[in-house]
Parts: sequence; C-alpha cells; structure tokens
Amino acid sequence: MDTEVEIEEVYQDGVYDEEVYSEESVIAVHELVPMRRAGDDDMEHIADMTDQFSRTIDPILRMYNAAMSATTARLEIIEDEFKYRKLRCPIHHIDTRLKSAESILGKLEKKDLDLTLSAACNNIYDIAGIRVVCSYIKDVYLIRDRLMAQDDLFIMDIKDYIAEPKENGYRSLHMIIRVPVYFMNKKQMVPVELQIRTLAMDLWASLEHDIKYKSLYQGVVTDFSDELKECSRLIYEAEEKMEIMNRMIEP
Ligand code: GTP
Ligand code: MG
Repeated sequence: MDTEVEIEEVYQDGVYDEEVYSEESVIAVHELVPMRRAGDDDMEHIADMTDQFSRTIDPILRMYNAAMSATTARLEIIEDEFKYRKLRCPIHHIDTRLKSAESILGKLEKKDLDLTLSAACNNIYDIAGIRVVCSYIKDVYLIRDRLMAQDDLFIMDIKDYIAEPKENGYRSLHMIIRVPVYFMNKKQMVPVELQIRTLAMDLWASLEHDIKYKSLYQGVVTDFSDELKECSRLIYEAEEKMEIMNRMIEP
C-alpha cells in the first residue's frame, strides 16, 4: 500500500477517512511493550513506577557503575604503563556489565534471600562485573598481582579456576574486590567481580555459555557436557603449545 498517496488523499479531502487510517495509524503499544497486568499501560501507574525506580534502585546502580568505571580506570593505567614501556600489553581487552534490576531480583530469589536492596548490596557481589581478557596465563597473574598491590583495594575473595578448573572444563581467575567510591559525598567500598582469563579460556566460556543457554531455552535435551569437556581439553592443549612459543621469545 502506498502510504504517501493515501495521506495525500486525506489532505485533499480535508476530512478524516476512516478506511485509509484504520489499522495503520494505530500504534499497538501492547505489541511493543510487555503488558503483564491490567493497568500496565496506565500512565499514572507508569510515572509512579519510574519515580520509585529512580528514587531507589537507580542511585544504587549508578554507584556500582562508578565502581566499575573506577576499576576499569585502574586497569587502563596498567595498560598505559606497558604502552609507555613499549612492552606487549598484558590486557587484550576489557568487557564490563552492570547487572539489571531484574537479574538482581532473580539472583535474590535463587539464593532464597530477602527481596530487598540491602540484601542485594550485601550478598550479591557481581552487580558490577568486569572481564579482563589476556593473551597468556602469566598476564592473568600479573593483573591479579597488580590489583593485590593496590593498598586502597580490599580483596574479598579469589577463586583460581586455572589452577583448579571446574569439573565442566571452565577455567578463569575470579576476584571479588571492594573499590572505594565517593558517591553522594559518602565513601563506600563497593564490590566488583573480576573474571580474568586468557583468550583461549574466553573462547571456551563464551561458546559454552551460548550452547548451554541456547539448548536450555530451546528445550534441547542433548547433553553436551562430554563434548564441552573435550573442547576445553583441546583448547587448553593448543594454548599450552602457544604459551611455550611465547616463553621462548619473551622469557
Ligand atoms: P554466584 O556468584 O552466586 O553466581 O556463584 P559463585 O560465586 O559460586 O560463582 P563463580 O565465582 O564460580 O562464578 C561466577 C561467574 O563466573 C558466573 O556468573 C559466570 O559468569 C562465570 N562462570 C562460572 N562458571 C562458569 C561456567 O561453567 N561456564 C561459564 N561460561 N561461565 C562460568
Ligand atoms: Mg560469585
């Protein structure tokens, strides 16, 4: 249907033509926005929810976002030092993600905790998440050591799934650190989860996550755990060979 012609006709007539404007001129809000309950498209209700959201969880998420930026800045300073020294940079790339309010709620429910902001802030340590992807295993430990040497950071927890891989083949170094953040003129030690891993480990973890969640979502019953374990072993073998080459040129 040529919409321009139709509109032209309406203008010419100067009257509302119900046939021309029928379905196309109606924006079906329910097709664009999920409507779970009656009244979900009621503007007064929405305005109230938005107001409540910005007064409560929004400042909390901003504080976690600030902690994530502050940590990323520290990592970028390490990158810059290596650039200045004309050395290979230990960081290949950095990814960040802030947990959504919905996902925080899901985790509280899963852990059987109170569905409160206080419970979230004091029990969920991956609201701010940073993934540091390195080229070689020695870079992973260099980043860990550099962060541990920063005396204004508090190291809450370290899990070394490189030294001790998970049963399914997952490898990575996890750290929960608390970063000082001045927010609303108050100092808070905000937890940030860091996953530090090599490109090879990241390849496996990203694809395993994709395969696991896609098969769950699509209801695929096939159990890929043996294949995934085998892939982890093969990727580890290849990584080991390349680590050896690197040690020969960069002791
Ligand atoms: P929660 O912090 O409650 O999630 O549990 P935990 O502290 O026991 O988790 P852990 O430190 O082992 O893992 C935290 C994060 O690492 C997860 O949210 C994932 O992003 C990642 N991770 C852990 N295990 C796996 C895995 O088997 N596969 C992939 N792809 N990612 C994993
Ligand atoms: Mg954790």
